[in-house]
Amino acid sequence: MTRAWNNPLRDPRDKRLPRIAGPSSLVIFGVTGDLARKKLMPAIYDLAHRGLLPAGFSLVGFARRDWEHQDFGELVHDSVKEHARTPFKESVWNRLAEGIRFVQGTFDDDDAFDRLAQTVKDLDAERGTGGNTAFYLSIPPSAFPVVTKQLARSGLADASEETWRRVVIEKPFGRDLKSAKELNEIVNDVFPEESVFRIDHYLGKETVQNLLALRFANQLFEPIWNANYVDHVQITMAEDIGLGGRAGYYDGIGAARDVIQNHLLQLLALTAMEEPVSFAPRALRAEKVKVLSATKPLGPFEETTARGQYAGGWQGGMKVPGLLQEGGFAKDSTTETYAAVTLEVQNRRWAGVPFYLRTGKRLGRRVTEIAVVFKRAPHLPFDSTSTEELGQNALVIRVQPDEGITLRFGSKVPGTTMEVRDVTMDFGYGHAFTESSPEAYERLILDVLLGEPSLFPVNEEVELSWEILDPILDTWAKKGAPEQYPPGSWGPPSADEMLERTGRNWRRP
Ligand code: BG6
Repeated sequence: MTRAWNNPLRDPRDKRLPRIAGPSSLVIFGVTGDLARKKLMPAIYDLAHRGLLPAGFSLVGFARRDWEHQDFGELVHDSVKEHARTPFKESVWNRLAEGIRFVQGTFDDDDAFDRLAQTVKDLDAERGTGGNTAFYLSIPPSAFPVVTKQLARSGLADASEETWRRVVIEKPFGRDLKSAKELNEIVNDVFPEESVFRIDHYLGKETVQNLLALRFANQLFEPIWNANYVDHVQITMAEDIGLGGRAGYYDGIGAARDVIQNHLLQLLALTAMEEPVSFAPRALRAEKVKVLSATKPLGPFEETTARGQYAGGWQGGMKVPGLLQEGGFAKDSTTETYAAVTLEVQNRRWAGVPFYLRTGKRLGRRVTEIAVVFKRAPHLPFDSTSTEELGQNALVIRVQPDEGITLRFGSKVPGTTMEVRDVTMDFGYGHAFTESSPEAYERLILDVLLGEPSLFPVNEEVELSWEILDPILDTWAKKGAPEQYPPGSWGPPSADEMLERTGRNWRRP
């Protein structure tokens, strides 16, 4: 194994020094897709711009198009110019461009994979990549089996004492527990688990990693982080965009499979898990596995879940189509674009505390947050009118946008009477730090090249997440069309009813 820390003068434990990847190359399958153009290639440029890639770093695109190296180079160039986070610099680009290669072929074409193997070999000789190669599968899961088999057949999956080979898999990791297990088997047949990096880009977000700092670097929060003090937890991922252009991926998948199974359950795991023994990958993942094993969906699902589909209408002064009018969606599609579920973490810390998870497209605004809502004080020594405006204390982790943390508590309104009202105390990344946060994909691609697996879910986490969601999905599958909701709203009426039934309300972030 080559060491990721290839500078002999550097102490790998010194976290103040930037983590720079060792000699390596990255092969992307699915280069013409949205994800590659909008996120992956820009992130690679941003890493290069920050000086975190090795000198001979090489990027190989594999696709069906009849392209030369420079055609692929142009695609990368354009996507970098349009989407990169850091400014475009000719010198950085030119250096990156020297290592860009393209291999033309289809996934069932043995010759193409043999050419790819030759390209990877040549890059080692020409640019000193050390043969260390990560394969990024930015392709539909239906293509995983054939590509992993080809990687095995052509010898590309074979690591050696000196070189590593890793595979990066994008979600969806199956569509239920059964298919996820099959997928995991196929991948694990070719790559050992420690070489498999399943991407959940939410784990690459700064604010999500900060959950661990908030909880485990402070004394203030952990003593009240349990069922004695917490009334419930709301995890929200709302988006204002629709699904135009994404029918191929989304129709038949829906909101729960798209983001609850992965992003939102990972947020739940980090919010609810016990303190890991250390931040070593095994220790962290063990705690996530443990908490996910204790997490169960609460029924009856007619009352504890909600499902909706956006209708056409007006949003932000624009006329927008409903899902059924979006190009590519079946005219009678029952795919949900809004999903809300009630879960419980059945352990001593959390028994009796509902975790409400919701997500939706074409909602009022784009916001992701985790709100830990506390119980009311057991006794209020005020006139009842004095506290009419007092809500429940809440700690809100604002994942995006406007990243930060808000603490909501009651305060006396200035004046001669004792009137208590909610106020907030705010931490904003923009105010506290001068550095801007890297994009999630920058962090995760760098971690792949460094062989640092902490932020990647293991197969067990993926399977446990499906186990939690499957009973709800089965119930929904037996129902007809989801309830429609107007664009720009906060979801279908059943979502509000779901919480009102328990005497609670959704936050309106
Ligand atoms: C993806 C989902 O994983 O996350 C998309 O497939 C969603 O449907 C996206 O729009 C949101 O990501 P972010 O980082 O913008 O919150």
